[in-house]
Amino acid sequence: MFVYILTFLLSLVLYTLYKLIINDNKNIRKSSRKAILPPGSMGWPYIGETIQLYSQDPNFFFSTRQRRYGEIFKTRILGYPCIMLASPEAARFVLVSQAQLFKPTYPKSKENLIGPSALFFHQGDYHENIRKLVKRSLSPDTIRNLVPEIESSALSLINSWSDGAPINTYQQMKKYSFEVGILSIFGQLEVHLKEELYKNYSILNQGYNSFPTNLPGTSYRSALKARKRMVQILGEILKERENMQIENNLLSGFLNLKDKDNRSLILDEEQIIDNIIGVLFAAQDTTASVITWILKYLHDYPKLLEAVMAEQKTIQKSKDKEDCLLTWKHTRNMPITYKVMLETLRMATIISFTFREAVTDVEYKGFLIPKGWKVMPLFRNIHHNPEFFTDPQKFDPSRFEVAPKPNTFMPFGSGVHSCPGNALAKQEILVMVHHLVTKFRWEVLGSQSGIQYGPFPVPIQGLPARFWKESSI
Ligand code: HEM
Ligand SMILES: *[C@@H]1O[C@H](CO)[C@@H](O)[C@H](O)[C@H]1NC(C)=O
Repeated sequence: MFVYILTFLLSLVLYTLYKLIINDNKNIRKSSRKAILPPGSMGWPYIGETIQLYSQDPNFFFSTRQRRYGEIFKTRILGYPCIMLASPEAARFVLVSQAQLFKPTYPKSKENLIGPSALFFHQGDYHENIRKLVKRSLSPDTIRNLVPEIESSALSLINSWSDGAPINTYQQMKKYSFEVGILSIFGQLEVHLKEELYKNYSILNQGYNSFPTNLPGTSYRSALKARKRMVQILGEILKERENMQIENNLLSGFLNLKDKDNRSLILDEEQIIDNIIGVLFAAQDTTASVITWILKYLHDYPKLLEAVMAEQKTIQKSKDKEDCLLTWKHTRNMPITYKVMLETLRMATIISFTFREAVTDVEYKGFLIPKGWKVMPLFRNIHHNPEFFTDPQKFDPSRFEVAPKPNTFMPFGSGVHSCPGNALAKQEILVMVHHLVTKFRWEVLGSQSGIQYGPFPVPIQGLPARFWKESSI
C-alpha cells in the first residue's frame, strides 16, 4: 500500500514537473506567437517598396523610416516581406549572436551567375571549411608576401595613363582590384588568361547588375554565356595546377582542402570554380568603389589631401634610402591615410545593408521575425547615426582617433560571414593611394556631386578625371 502511495506521489511530482517544463516550452512558443510584427509599411503588394529603395538614396529611404518607426521596421522588397534592423544590437543579434537562426539569401538569378557553391550562399560545415581556407589565404601573413606584386599592378595601371587624358576612375580601379583578386587566387597567371578572364568577367558583372531575364539580347543572357566561357578557362587552369607542388594561394588551398581534423576534403571542379568566381566578385567592385571615393574626398578636401601627401612623401623618401619598394611595414605606418580610409568606409558605406532569412520564428525585443522573412541589417544607418558618429554627414577622419563604440562600425560586416578579404582590401587601397598622391595631381571632370548606385554607391559616372604625372607639371 505504502509503495503504491509513494509511486503515486512520485508520479504526481514527475507529472507536475513534466507539465511545468512542457508548459514552459509552450510559453516560449506562445509568447513568440504573441510577439507582434514590427511597425512599418508593406507598400504596394508585390512591388512593395522596391522602387523606392532602388531609386532613392538609401540614406533617405532608411532614415525616414527609422525616424518614423524606430530601430526595427517591416517593409517589402522584391516581393518579399522584410524586417529591417537599424541598431548595432539588432545587427549583432542577426549576424553574430543568433547567426544560426538566419541563413544567407540571394535571388536565384544572382546565385546562378556567381555559382551556387560559392561560400557566401552557404552556412554550416561546408561554409565553415571553405571560409577557413579563404581566410587563411587572405590573412595578413599571406598578403605580406604579395605586397611587391600588388605594388607592381598599381604601378603598371597608373603608368598606362597618358597625361591629362580623361579617364573613368572607377573603371580603372576595377582593373586594379581584379588584378589583385587574380593575384590572391592564383599567384602568377599568364597575361592572356588574365585578359580573357577579365573580359568575360566584365560581361558577367554587367549582367549581375541588370534585370534577370534569360532572353536573347539581354545582358543577363550574355552574362550566363560569359560565365560558361569563364568555367572553361578556369577548368583548364585547374587541370594545369592540379599536379603542381603546394603554393600559398587560394587555388592551391582549394586543391588541398582539409577539415578541422585535418582530413582531406575533396572539392569538385564546380565547387572550386564557383568559389573562384565568388571571390573575384566579392573583391572587385567593392574595393574599386572605395578607392574611387577616397580620391573624390581627397579632391573635395584639399587640406586633407595635403596631410595625406605629406605623410606619403615622407614614406617615399624613407624607402628611397632602402630600396624602392613599399613594404608591409610601410603600409602599417600610414596613420593619416589609414583614418581617411576608415572615414571613407563609413561615409560611403558601399555595402549599405545585407540580407539574411529567418530559418524559424524568431523573437527580438518583443517583436516577431516570422520564419521565411528576410532580415536586413542596415549598416548605412548605423554608420550615419549621430548617436554613434557626431555630425555624421561631415567627412572627418579625425573621429577615428578614438575607436568607434562596439558594433557601430561594420564596413566589412560582422560575424560568421564577415569579410575575409578586409586585410587585402586595405593593403591594396593603401598601396594605390601612396602612388597616386606621391606621383600625380588630378582634376575631377563634369558634375562634382551626385551618387550612382550600380548597385554599390560610386561618385556619379564613376568619377571622370584627368591625372597628370607630377614630374611633368
Ligand atoms: C573595401 C573592400 C571590401 C568591402 C567593403 C567588403 C565588404 C564585405 C562585407 C560587408 C561582407 C559581408 C556580407 C554579408 O554579411 O552579407 C563581405 C563578405 C565577403 N568578402 Fe568582402 N569586402 C571588400 C573586399 C573584399 C576582397 C578584396 C575580398 C577577396 C579578395 C573579399 C571577399 C569576401 C568574401 C569571400 C565574402 C563572403 C564571406 C562569407 O560569406 O563567409 N572582400 N565583404
Ligand atoms: C572569353 O573567353 C574565351 C575563351 O573561352 C576567349 O576566347 C574570349 O576571348 C574571352 N573574351 C570575350 C570578350 O569573350
